[in-house]
Amino acid sequence: MKFGIIGAGPIGTSIAKKLVSNGHEVKVADARGIAYLEEKEFVGTPVSAEEVVQFIDVLILALPLHVMPSIRTIVEKCDEGVIVVDTSNYYPFRDNRIEEIENGMVESVWVSNQLRLPIIKAFSNLLAYTLAHKGTPVGTTGRIAMAIAGDNVSQKQIIMDFVNQCGFDTVDAGSIADSWTFQPGTPAYCTELTQEELTEALQKANKDKAPMLRDKIMEHFSMEFTHEDIVNLNRKIYNL
Ligand SMILES: NC(=O)c1ccc[n+]([C@@H]2O[C@H](COP(=O)([O-])OP(=O)(O)OC[C@H]3O[C@@H](n4cnc5c(N)ncnc54)[C@H](OP(=O)(O)O)[C@@H]3O)[C@@H](O)[C@H]2O)c1
Repeated sequence: MKFGIIGAGPIGTSIAKKLVSNGHEVKVADARGIAYLEEKEFVGTPVSAEEVVQFIDVLILALPLHVMPSIRTIVEKCDEGVIVVDTSNYYPFRDNRIEEIENGMVESVWVSNQLRLPIIKAFSNLLAYTLAHKGTPVGTTGRIAMAIAGDNVSQKQIIMDFVNQCGFDTVDAGSIADSWTFQPGTPAYCTELTQEELTEALQKANKDKAPMLRDKIMEHFSMEFTHEDIVNLNRKIYNL
């Protein structure tokens, strides 16, 4: 398949690497211009934002959530039928306060509204390190699972199949309106669960408590933490 990725941070570059190693064609762009890709290391073809949306099957948005409104005019140039994947999460300290989300709007519903397009939410509940280093073959004991949400069932299945190729089981977490069950602050968020554990964790999510728990992580976070320390902190605070 042909993929376009906007955003060459840890998530976009990890996905690009997985895609290329599975034989897919990948173009990578920066929303602000191709010059921002200079000196960045990634696999895939660097292109402008205008080019990244052309002749693709799937567009992956690997960007801070607050950037979404500024890329609507780029994303709207996708051909009909292109699957648009949102990987973003809302962090008020980074994305500035977004009143609609603060008042309870599901993060990816907000993204979909900004883009004026239906989207599939994926790659948002695993840390970039997990994505890059902890994929395993189908059937491996303890294989980590990713939550995927979206209203278009056939598009969602295509993305689930691709995630499986990348080394992770999947759990269909329902519609985009249901995707709050794996937003930051929930037991499913970056806690490296198996398919069975993730299914259970999605059911344990508490929408009202999630923002408070998300912010509590920041209070306990240290730059000295290893990847495993971060996963363990998430597990502890998010009540697993
Ligand atoms: N990292 C994780 O473990 C993780 C896990 C799950 C989900 N996510 C979510 O996935 C999304 C991507 O995360 P990420 O960790 O890959 O990196 P990121 O720090 O969100 O950056 C992604 C890309 O966006 C670019 N960018 C930064 N500010 C921008 C702006 N104002 N306008 C246009 N582009 C801008 C970055 O460029 P520069 O590099 O030049 O800043 C980078 O190419 C985020 O929404 C994040 O919450 C991340």
